[in-house]
Amino acid sequence: MTNKVSANNSSDLKSEKDYAKYFETTYQPPSLRDARRRGKEEVNVHYDFEIPEDVKNIGADRKYLIRTYGCQMNEHDTEVMAGILENLGYEATTVDEEADVILLNTCAIRENAENKVFGEIGHLKALKREKPELILGVCGCMSQEESVVNRILQKHPQVDLIFGTHNIHRLPTLLKEALFSKEMVVEVWSKEGDIIENLPRVRKGNISGWVNIMYGCDKFCTYCIVPYTRGKERSRLPEDIIEEVRQLARHGYQEVTLLGQNVNAYGKDFDFEYGLGHLMDEIRKIGIPRIRFTTSHPRDFDDHLIEVLAKGGNLVEHIHLPVQHGNSDILKLMGRAYTREQYLELVRKIKAAIPNVVLTTDIIVGFPNETEEQFEETLSLYREVGYDSAYTFIYSPREGTPAARMKDDVPMSVKKERLQRLNAVVNETALEKNRNYVGEVVEVLVQGESKKNKDVLTGYTRGNKVVHFQGPKSLIGQLVNVRITTAKTWTLDGELEEMYEVKSS
Ligand code: SAH
Ligand code: SF4
Ligand code: F3S
Repeated sequence: MTNKVSANNSSDLKSEKDYAKYFETTYQPPSLRDARRRGKEEVNVHYDFEIPEDVKNIGADRKYLIRTYGCQMNEHDTEVMAGILENLGYEATTVDEEADVILLNTCAIRENAENKVFGEIGHLKALKREKPELILGVCGCMSQEESVVNRILQKHPQVDLIFGTHNIHRLPTLLKEALFSKEMVVEVWSKEGDIIENLPRVRKGNISGWVNIMYGCDKFCTYCIVPYTRGKERSRLPEDIIEEVRQLARHGYQEVTLLGQNVNAYGKDFDFEYGLGHLMDEIRKIGIPRIRFTTSHPRDFDDHLIEVLAKGGNLVEHIHLPVQHGNSDILKLMGRAYTREQYLELVRKIKAAIPNVVLTTDIIVGFPNETEEQFEETLSLYREVGYDSAYTFIYSPREGTPAARMKDDVPMSVKKERLQRLNAVVNETALEKNRNYVGEVVEVLVQGESKKNKDVLTGYTRGNKVVHFQGPKSLIGQLVNVRITTAKTWTLDGELEEMYEVKSS
């Protein structure tokens, strides 16, 4: 059941009509009840995306700019939107003033992500005043939130277009409407079960590529907005994924990252027995040096996958395994469906099968009513696992999620202090881990010049560690051997080994 809304709003905005009200009555807000009903509908895969005839040239002599605020999934969507816009004749620019279309591809995961976007919308008001023909669009996860759309409708008339994460393939038509109608165009489908296969793409770079293997999330961790903004879990067919990876290999890509909010649930929606382990087992036979995947949910990480990953080769020994918390009661309140002990048991199995594995994680501090003792269990778990690094966050209530309704007695000052204490442990462990590499030779995939120093090249190890070293620019895009000389908290410095060509496996 999808819900399409088109609200028109006059561009000088203070019109008599109350469009926001109209919007409220027809827009279906993210609803846990509705969302829980998912899972039974059929997923349709479409291979028939086409740019409609009447819009084919609307971008001729015009430029576009897309700003991306979110995770890799958002980056991936940006690549698709760039592909669509270039198919319409638009050219990319990085300069606001040159752009005829600016799209803000937003993220709703925490409040500060949203604040940044509202700051930017405000900032672009002046540009829009100077250049009224500029099309300003808001898309991505924030546009799936009722409160955000209402706020834009009411307070930000400079926005011409709002569309949701399930409406990306409709961009040509929506853009045309925005261009010709001079009214605010809003199209947000709140629930979607389909997969559109043949959308165009403009990939960022030609060394590492992202390949989506599934969309959406059905996990409903109680703090998280993603299941509402991204819809239900739906897996792409193995043959479509394998073909895309092969194509990247043919084009000389050295690394592929398989993407999904919860890649371990891959295949659960098929009516045949096929999971991430099966997929990885097929992809490892493709001639591409490195295969990664993100993000893993510990709950669905099965033995078959561990067995396949242990085969190594192009399957790299890095696993991002978000734990979120170290205390079982909080994990239960978070709806993570595993205990501290079960998580540690999974880590034990992974380490036994892949002894040199690099583990990284995500952690939330300051979940409602988290006690000092419970927080300390996060610190002790962190040390016990011995992660190489972590993304750490202060819990941010998200409207419409169950956790946002929980009473919370932890003051913000305490949450901030806990974050600092956690980060101190994260930094200390990261440095310790990096010191183990000093004197070792590691395989580095060279990504480019270092941002800080043009004479230095930068790349990643198989374990996803950043390495800096000096060498000719011709090495960019290649795999080389580097001997590590110095360990820092977040980076390793090294020297190119004389025999630097590494044969891909
Ligand atoms: N699908 C991934 C995570 C996507 S969001 C997974 O399940 O691991 C990335 C991270 O943001 C999460 O792992 C979590 O640590 C954090 N996060 C999500 N919602 C949050 C919230 N409301 N407040 C703070 N951090 C949050
Ligand atoms: Fe959010 Fe949990 Fe889904 Fe990850 S698994 S996207 S944290 S609901
Ligand atoms: Fe943000 Fe949406 Fe990704 S909320 S983290 S951009 S899935």
